[in-house]
Amino acid sequence: MRVGLIGAGAIGRQIMAALDERRNIETLLFRPGGRGTPGSLLASVTVITAMPEFIAAAPACVIEAARQEAVAEHLPAFLSHGIPAVLCSTGALADLSLRLELIRLAEAHSTQIVIPGGAVAGLDYLRTVSHVPGTEVTYTSRKPPAAWRRELAERGLDGDRLREPAVLFEGTPEDAARRFPRNANSALTIALAAGERAVSVRIVADPAAQGNSQDIEVRGPVGTAHFTLVNAPSPGNPKSSAITALSALQAADGLMLKSGLRFS
Ligand SMILES: NC(=O)c1ccc[n+]([C@@H]2O[C@H](COP(=O)([O-])OP(=O)(O)OC[C@H]3O[C@@H](n4cnc5c(N)ncnc54)[C@H](O)[C@@H]3O)[C@@H](O)[C@H]2O)c1
Repeated sequence: MRVGLIGAGAIGRQIMAALDERRNIETLLFRPGGRGTPGSLLASVTVITAMPEFIAAAPACVIEAARQEAVAEHLPAFLSHGIPAVLCSTGALADLSLRLELIRLAEAHSTQIVIPGGAVAGLDYLRTVSHVPGTEVTYTSRKPPAAWRRELAERGLDGDRLREPAVLFEGTPEDAARRFPRNANSALTIALAAGERAVSVRIVADPAAQGNSQDIEVRGPVGTAHFTLVNAPSPGNPKSSAITALSALQAADGLMLKSGLRFS
């Protein structure tokens, strides 16, 4: 079976390594125009630089692990050819017109755009309660001050001397995605699952934070829920979480495996 991949960075490399351990999987790495330098690649990886060739190779699905711009650039072509896509750069869907266009294409070509949990979890629960009026969701992202030096300096704060948590952002998921494009994928993922109007986002620089931690609190008529994730860094990049690549692979498996036990 062939699996398409866009992006050979921290997440893409982890995905390629995991797929390489499986039998009978060829990874098709799409590098438009030979962009960037992927370095040494595994034998199970074939690099394709032109879209027509990539489409003709008919991957069972494509995992996007590139950057937000890549979603608008490449997804329309995949969806128009009925190839389902798993998105890591979910923040791109803060652009409502892009989101609606991608959904229209997926519907027109009987295919799917799959949003994995990525660095967060509980999307099954959020989807379920999204239909219940009165449900409220608060998503809080906490990282050590070192991850937010520039943003703290803009507020006259020194990341090395911060003693108390500093709230850098409080607002809607769309604003979070626009203002922190490299960091707000999770905010958009939660908003897409729970419904944007139900979600408020907090981004906090916290001297007590243990790595990248994510809190999702849900309150509503059917109950309360609290998910906390403290994500370990990815093997190839301490700024990325190892769980994101695994989550994208799990989502791709859902598209590739046509039979057997399945979780929603
Ligand atoms: N959903 C989540 O929870 C979550 C978590 C972490 C990261 N992310 C997102 O996943 C994406 C990948 O993260 P990463 O840490 O691997 O990034 P990275 O910077 O390490 O790697 C990005 C790769 O994509 C390639 N690329 C960039 N623009 C491209 C384009 N337009 N077309 C094709 N290839 C392109 C680059 O050459 C590079 O190989 C980022 O958008 C990141 O924000 C999502």
